[in-house]
Amino acid sequence: MPVSSPSPIVRGGFILCPCHPGAEAALAARQADVLPAFSRGVWRRGAATFRIGPEGFDPPDEFAPELIFAHTVVRSLGQVSASSVADLAAKTSALVGSVSWNAIHVWKREERLDVVVADARAAIAAACGVAVPDDPAAQPGDLVLDCVLDSADRWWVGWHRAALPASCWPGGVYPQPLPGDKVSRAWLKLDEAIASFGVTLQRGERAIELGAAPGGACQRLLEAGLDVIGVDAAMVDATVAAHPRFEQWRMRAREVPLKRMKGVDWLLTDMNIDPASTMSALERVLGGGVRPAGVIATLKLPDWSRAADLPGWLDAFRAWGYVPRVRQLSTGGREVCVVATARPAGRVTPPNRHRATRRPGA
Ligand SMILES: C[S@@+](CC[C@H](N)C(=O)[O-])C[C@H]1O[C@@H](n2cnc3c(N)ncnc32)[C@H](O)[C@@H]1O
Repeated sequence: MPVSSPSPIVRGGFILCPCHPGAEAALAARQADVLPAFSRGVWRRGAATFRIGPEGFDPPDEFAPELIFAHTVVRSLGQVSASSVADLAAKTSALVGSVSWNAIHVWKREERLDVVVADARAAIAAACGVAVPDDPAAQPGDLVLDCVLDSADRWWVGWHRAALPASCWPGGVYPQPLPGDKVSRAWLKLDEAIASFGVTLQRGERAIELGAAPGGACQRLLEAGLDVIGVDAAMVDATVAAHPRFEQWRMRAREVPLKRMKGVDWLLTDMNIDPASTMSALERVLGGGVRPAGVIATLKLPDWSRAADLPGWLDAFRAWGYVPRVRQLSTGGREVCVVATARPAGRVTPPNRHRATRRPGA
């Protein structure tokens, strides 16, 4: 795929971050933490912009995954307003100038907006003279024109260079639908986590999931060829339960004997309990001598303010000898997904300020 020179691009003084509707305050809090020289710009449900700082600073094309609640990060060039799609597209073309785009990403700021993405994308492609394939996904290295449909008569325009998996998807939203034969939406969440974090699962590995019913994530692991144990007091769906490489332990996470967990390659958690309780369950296992190569943990946020606890949770993973990465998956709800890989033995950081406190439920 030929890569165009970015030189004709107006680089823009703002970044634009699509996010879950409702996650804007959590996103702004992350920006204040990890990009303190930036300042808040326009803020709407499902998207926020931040002025790039300090003045003169030119951030790399792809950066700031630490924003966690941003599905992706694009460089904003501004807004266009008009009463027809054709006029909006013509103004978009005038705003971005003459650039050889490899891909065009168009998405709605909020799913419920009554605007048609395919119409807008076709109009922009025609106005900019870009031949676009039906599949809007970009390839790493592609120069992408971004357009957020803010309302029927206003679009936000920007661009980015595709690199991380999520930056190849329009708006950073995982483009795969949930196949009809899957037993829960957790199948799709795990599918996105695998794609977005570049997780490699090997046939014959052993995985255990705490909070496994009805079994979508276990189904995804079984499809990848793993031997799977699902821990949950609730029953797993019969199709998953009947799989020859699946076993259910009908108990709570805290009742699982640690010696039965020895030798697992992957530990997953997806319990609908307070995140501090999930952290306690993880501490019991990872602090108790069980050392899977990887952990994929969902931490549910009872409210967005709990995002403030994230740095402490990540410190706990480091103290257990893991390297954590975290993001809010586009297919998940008010929660974050931590993917952590074990550091080589002998490089364990001593415990620090975070100790997960036990709460009822784990
Ligand atoms: C969101 S659902 C899990 C979905 C599941 N991962 C899937 O793939 O379909 C949350 C589950 O956590 C379970 N759960 C809640 N507290 C638990 C605990 N302390 N130990 C084990 N499971 C727990 C619930 O019974 C419930 O089935």
